[in-house]
Amino acid sequence: MRVLVTGGAGYIGSVVVALLLDAGHDVTVLDDLATGHEDAIAPGAQFVKASITDAGPVLAERPYDTVMHLAAKSLVAESVEHPDRYWHNNVGGTLALLDAMRAHSVPRLVFSSTAATYGEPSAVPIPEDAPPAPASPYGTSKLAVDLALADYTRAYGVATVSLRYFNVAGALLLRPGVSYGERHAVETHLIPIALQVAAGTRDVLDIYGTDYPTADGTCVRDYLHVADVGDAHLRAMSAVRPRTHRVINLGSGAGYSVRQVVEAVRRATGREVPVRPAPRRPGDPAVLVASTARAAAELGWEPVRGLDEMVADAWAFVTG
Ligand code: UFG
Repeated sequence: MRVLVTGGAGYIGSVVVALLLDAGHDVTVLDDLATGHEDAIAPGAQFVKASITDAGPVLAERPYDTVMHLAAKSLVAESVEHPDRYWHNNVGGTLALLDAMRAHSVPRLVFSSTAATYGEPSAVPIPEDAPPAPASPYGTSKLAVDLALADYTRAYGVATVSLRYFNVAGALLLRPGVSYGERHAVETHLIPIALQVAAGTRDVLDIYGTDYPTADGTCVRDYLHVADVGDAHLRAMSAVRPRTHRVINLGSGAGYSVRQVVEAVRRATGREVPVRPAPRRPGDPAVLVASTARAAAELGWEPVRGLDEMVADAWAFVTG
């Protein structure tokens, strides 16, 4: 298939691009490089440096079978301080992209949604039909797109899927010397920060909240290897059906606490990882674990890589 990947220079996007190329697809990356890296785009993909609001000319050039839309702003704290950026980029930008897709008759869309659309869940594991209640403008912006996709799909007959990622981690080690991983200028995620502490480039890991109602008092999350996430995108592209919008969780169904993740980092690196208790981070639910039944039934997908492999692959990526 001919696929346009927005955000293909970002962390998850670069993995999706590498896997698409590996599977023989024709790939064009659209990325404004606001947070992505041009050298993260696998050789073999064409690259257009542009915003998603300017997708029209790219889609006009050649017929595309699929758009995989990963470009977005994705910092929860920034979204609370600057919601305008999230509404304009994530919602306004996506509506412009959808209009360009419609103008150029692109039949399929795979969209990066998020577990942040659920907010504080009333039950875990979280099924896709749980009532959405995002706790941040980031989550609200992704939910707004999910709702728009349902309407556009019904009216315009396209085939769309919203993949609701839980906590993506790890790196794609494709071949010796060829790997794709996380390189955020502003790092807020647990595993990369814990690896920085293990590497000695950061002194200590703050554990945000040690009094949660969980077994060891720290937050529990459903961690997912980025290579499994990439695989789910390829399956979703084949599974989508015209006039159908599906919301599908990408998770493992297993939860690990912050302290368990730190233990995994110690195991994988053989290094000390000093930690200290810190206040809770606003908007962090105690437990987020995905119900995985729909992904299994509709994509035939389940993650095959566990927490230790995620941490080991991320460590291999950062230590080069
Ligand atoms: N954490 C720490 N110390 C840190 C960083 C994180 O204790 O230095 C904790 C967090 O409080 C949380 C867990 O580690 O309990 C995981 O935090 P991350 O920031 O790695 O991931 P989040 O669960 O906050 O974020 C993920 C996605 C977001 C999405 C969110 C939905 O990365 O895009 O889930 O809740 F919005």
